[in-house]
Amino acid sequence: MNRNDRLKQLKELRKEALLGGGQARLDAQHAKQKLSARERLDLLLDTGSFEEMGMLVTHRSTNFGLDKQKFLGDGVVTGHGTINGRTVFVFSQDFTVMGGSLSEAYAEKIVKVMDLASKVGAPVIGLNDSGGARIQEGVVSLAGYADIFLRNTLMSGVVPQISAILGPCAGGAVYSPAITDFVFMTKGTSYMFVTGPEVVKTVTHEEVTKEDLGGATAHGSKSGVSHFTCNNEIEVIEGIKNLLSFIPQNNLENPPTIPCDDPIDRADDALDTIIPENANKPYDMKNVINMVVDNGEFFEVHKDFAMNMVVGFTRMNGKPVGIVANQPAHLAGVLDIDSAVKGARFVRFCDAFNIPLLTFEDVPGFLPGTDQEWGGIIRHGAKLLYAFAEATVPRVTVITRKAYGGAYDVMNSKHIRGDINFAWPCAEIAVMGARGATEIIFRKEIAKAKDPEAALESLTDEFSERFANPYSAASRGYVDEVIEPNKTRLKVIRAFEMLENKVDSNPQKKHGNIPL
Ligand code: HXC
Repeated sequence: MNRNDRLKQLKELRKEALLGGGQARLDAQHAKQKLSARERLDLLLDTGSFEEMGMLVTHRSTNFGLDKQKFLGDGVVTGHGTINGRTVFVFSQDFTVMGGSLSEAYAEKIVKVMDLASKVGAPVIGLNDSGGARIQEGVVSLAGYADIFLRNTLMSGVVPQISAILGPCAGGAVYSPAITDFVFMTKGTSYMFVTGPEVVKTVTHEEVTKEDLGGATAHGSKSGVSHFTCNNEIEVIEGIKNLLSFIPQNNLENPPTIPCDDPIDRADDALDTIIPENANKPYDMKNVINMVVDNGEFFEVHKDFAMNMVVGFTRMNGKPVGIVANQPAHLAGVLDIDSAVKGARFVRFCDAFNIPLLTFEDVPGFLPGTDQEWGGIIRHGAKLLYAFAEATVPRVTVITRKAYGGAYDVMNSKHIRGDINFAWPCAEIAVMGARGATEIIFRKEIAKAKDPEAALESLTDEFSERFANPYSAASRGYVDEVIEPNKTRLKVIRAFEMLENKVDSNPQKKHGNIPL
């Protein structure tokens, strides 16, 4: 072979690799409204930035005739590129090659980019579309998965890890995305489950479709496994890019800032009237968020899951901030198992990646009942408490209305290291709601009264006057300042600016023991 032949050979090999499992399988992929592994990367990465690694890798198995079925790249496209100029590592599973199933060599390719990402300090984005372990390879394929799980775990909190589920993801394979920081799913074309509908039918006699069992809506609204439910793959790609714009490359960097054209002293007077006169009436906390943050832009995480808690990313004066807020418009903003877990995971992500936290609080307490108690609200509620208590990033709280009981302590209170805690004048900071409190502490007086209902009313009013306000907390310094609602934006931005160089730490330890 002369030099020209060698160049030609390289060209041919590349051409072959680009074909994946061949045109027919590519057409079948498109017919399912799915893009190919390479088309996905083209959309995700800055044009021309992709540097592929391992294009010529093939599997080494000879089991069940596999030696006669080799595809260059072996079913996963791996490498690095940039998104808006910032380096990311990627792997994109190619369903056209043996259903994107994971072989030993395939796992080695993923492991290689993960290891590089952790040395370089750049995010890893996995585009998942796979039939799981390559059945013919047996235990070496399971070993390959375990190699990936180990790295997912060791890299957790070091570099951001993002998973897009764009096809099947079943069996133990679900545990890699589950350990990553954020999961995106597409409606109708992606699913995740530990066991599929057939096994479910055999074991529990339940009949359920793939979509109902483990589709995007199920995981986005019921299980909370997925953080973003998208209508199609384009939405997923846009979502990943948007998400990355709020987060740093690794845990040693600060999140990227952008110029802010929204005046920091913009005072939205609608905030002064957003809280209903009647404390039992709901209002939408997302309206509060939108009025306070830069240009009303809020990138919500877990939008359809545990809607009594709102979490997501935004910017204040151009700097990324993570928002954790109770949502009075859903279940009165009560804390329950799902909302506590949702909040805790988000707080821990932000703390791991140096993203300041802004809490908007309007919480009547924890949800009572056997469902919650037997489900472990004590253990799960403690996760949120633990997450806030250990967070060392700048932390600001705005109590808009209710801050009752244990929930007051949990929601980034001063006592667990909230840095600056504001309250609006209509805040009610107390052990419990006025009526319930009155019923307990004045039980005897109410029973003796000629008109118990009237007595309850008047004692409740008296209690409210005395305790259902922010001033008792302010007099102790538990609230740093009671502010006019329309000043919230300016006050919060100034607080974060003051906190910019905050340094805080936790005691040295191997790791804590969060109540899982
Ligand atoms: C090898 C596989 C494969 C697998 C699919 N294929 N899954 N090859 N190992 N796990 C191949 C098929 O033989 C077929 O090859 C091609 O991929 C496309 O598959 P189809 O079945 O034609 O596609 P579709 O009808 O869309 O169904 C997709 C599917 C189904 C739902 C994923 O293929 C399926 O159920 N696969 C098996 C899933 C599974 O049980 N995997 C093991 C899970 S346990 P040809 O040559 O015809 O194109 C697991 C453990 C992980 O993964 C453990 C980690 C700890």
